[in-house]
Amino acid sequence: MSDLFVCNICGEPYIGGEAPDDCPFCGAPRKFITRIDEFSPLWTSDLTEQEEKDVKETVELEVNAAAYYKYVSDSNEKYSKMNRLFKQLARVEEEHVEVACKLLGIDEPEMKGERSRGSAKKDLERDATVKYKKFLARAENENVKKFFEALIHAEQGHLDYTEKELK
Ligand SMILES: [Fe+2]
Repeated sequence: MSDLFVCNICGEPYIGGEAPDDCPFCGAPRKFITRIDEFSPLWTSDLTEQEEKDVKETVELEVNAAAYYKYVSDSNEKYSKMNRLFKQLARVEEEHVEVACKLLGIDEPEMKGERSRGSAKKDLERDATVKYKKFLARAENENVKKFFEALIHAEQGHLDYTEKELK
């Protein structure tokens, strides 16, 4: 029997028999996915100055990652494995940009970024994860903590998969 679920990180809905392991939109772990009646949006609270700075830096990192992944996806034959993989990676990073901008209460930037950072794949995720762990450790706001926890989980999932598949 199907139910309507919502990711409490990105707010995207999902219909299925049960909640997915990871949010298909932002990669948040299952613990953040609830039935619609238990949904509480993440982007409702004020941030400290440091949190605002950290979330802004996150926007920049994610815009660059999304742009790079989109570039790799477009550079590969349509519907090939690389094309599909990098399309999904880009989509998740774009979702992260959207959530971060909602937390900041700002409009989303254009998805441009440094498309030429060719060999950056592994480093992008790894560098971002190191930063997000730092941001999580110094976050005070519960919603900001949840956001970084979800991001770390998502980036780790990308690393696990791409390291296995792209050796
Ligand atoms: Fe999500």
